[in-house]
Amino acid sequence: MGVCGYLFLPWKCLVVVSLRLLFLVPTGVPVRSGDATFPKAMDNVTVRQGESATLRCTIDDRVTRVAWLNRSTILYAGNDKWSIDPRVIILVNTPTQYSIMIQNVDVYDEGPYTCSVQTDNHPKTSRVHLIVQVPPQIMNISSDVTVNEGSSVTLLCLAIGRPEPTVTWRHLSVKDGQGFVSEDEYLEISDIKRDQSGEYECSALNDVAAPDVRKVKITVNYPPYISKAKNTGVSVGQKGILSCEASAVPTAEFQWFKEDTRYLESGNRACPKGHTSTLTFFNVSEKDYGNYTCVATNKLGNTNASITLYGPGAVIDGVNSASRALACCLWLSGTLFAHFFIKF
Ligand SMILES: *[C@@H]1O[C@H](CO)[C@@H](O)[C@H](O)[C@H]1NC(C)=O
Ligand SMILES: *[C@@H]1O[C@H](CO)[C@@H](O)[C@H](O)[C@H]1NC(C)=O
Ligand SMILES: *[C@@H]1O[C@H](CO)[C@@H](O)[C@H](O)[C@H]1NC(C)=O
Ligand SMILES: *[C@@H]1O[C@H](CO)[C@@H](O)[C@H](O)[C@H]1NC(C)=O
Ligand SMILES: *[C@@H]1O[C@H](CO)[C@@H](O)[C@H](O)[C@H]1NC(C)=O
Ligand SMILES: *[C@@H]1O[C@H](CO)[C@@H](O)[C@H](O)[C@H]1NC(C)=O
Repeated sequence: MGVCGYLFLPWKCLVVVSLRLLFLVPTGVPVRSGDATFPKAMDNVTVRQGESATLRCTIDDRVTRVAWLNRSTILYAGNDKWSIDPRVIILVNTPTQYSIMIQNVDVYDEGPYTCSVQTDNHPKTSRVHLIVQVPPQIMNISSDVTVNEGSSVTLLCLAIGRPEPTVTWRHLSVKDGQGFVSEDEYLEISDIKRDQSGEYECSALNDVAAPDVRKVKITVNYPPYISKAKNTGVSVGQKGILSCEASAVPTAEFQWFKEDTRYLESGNRACPKGHTSTLTFFNVSEKDYGNYTCVATNKLGNTNASITLYGPGAVIDGVNSASRALACCLWLSGTLFAHFFIKF
């Protein structure tokens, strides 16, 4: 057989054509689209992972042989498929256009593809880059964590995507909008403080799709701190309430004492940051007057405050009331007293 027609190639001819086509592989500088030279390939092709990519090559009727190559491997030579990859199909083979399609594109398909033609016995090539994009996806993120105040915390957020996503961490629980706390996969907090507890959001961003966002909660334990303990004056026969407010994580347990006697709290309210314990005297008598101690305890420690229940005419030196009042919202148990609201 003297001539190898490129449409119907016997095996021996394939080898010959293959070798000839290999000579057509560009040696260096790719022919940019827009150049006057043939063949005219399109601009670089950008597709998302899973989509189909169409590789087009504009030719003219002087062209006698055409092929599309992936790096140095022939995918199609004329109408003959050389690639064994079922995702590669031919779309158009006319005197003016020669196009193939790669279906279900994956990241390893990224790279240079070459349209190779022969015109008047001169080999010419044009190169196009297939760029594969992948939406950002967080692959591995730290779990919610509970630590004691003063310790160090490292959160990790690993994301994939093409182009490589930018990973940022943001503290969601800050009201004053502290913004980004880390522009990195790692969020490192040393000597953590109680106000650094709350939700942290990891965001992985590239320009392919919406950012992938996940949240991690940091709980910071700290020992009780009594924020409000107020002396109360009440007449005999009236109702009297002593209240003691403590902030603690985990939530404090309260105990009330007068000298060595333990009293049972009558109410307990939960607030976002603090708990209030109350001791109620439904009918105050002389013997109820005196100093009471409120003890707030959690697993990290305890603290106490002294509160005086006094009668009319009593002289109280130094009102024992803490300045930082915490707004409370919810009664957990006990009775709701109108008296309490008057106090606020
Ligand atoms: C292109 O070549 C690369 C590297 O050999 C290969 O991994 C990929 O599957 C090829 N893609 C197509 C569509 O032939
Ligand atoms: C095509 O992509 C390659 C590799 O990413 C790049 O070097 C080249 O400048 C791009 N060409 C055009 C026309 O965008
Ligand atoms: C996530 O990262 C941690 C710490 O680097 C590692 O121990 C774990 O195996 C990773 N998990 C996955 C699913 O990659
Ligand atoms: C309060 O206690 C006193 C003395 O025990 C009693 O006389 C009085 O009736 C009580 N008042 C109420 C409202 O229970
Ligand atoms: C009660 O507490 C106040 C203030 O802490 C103190 O000045 C006072 O002496 C105490 N009274 C008694 C009877 O313990
Ligand atoms: C209250 O606190 C003081 C100082 O921390 C401690 O000495 C005292 O024993 C505490 N009282 C109670 C009743 O826990």
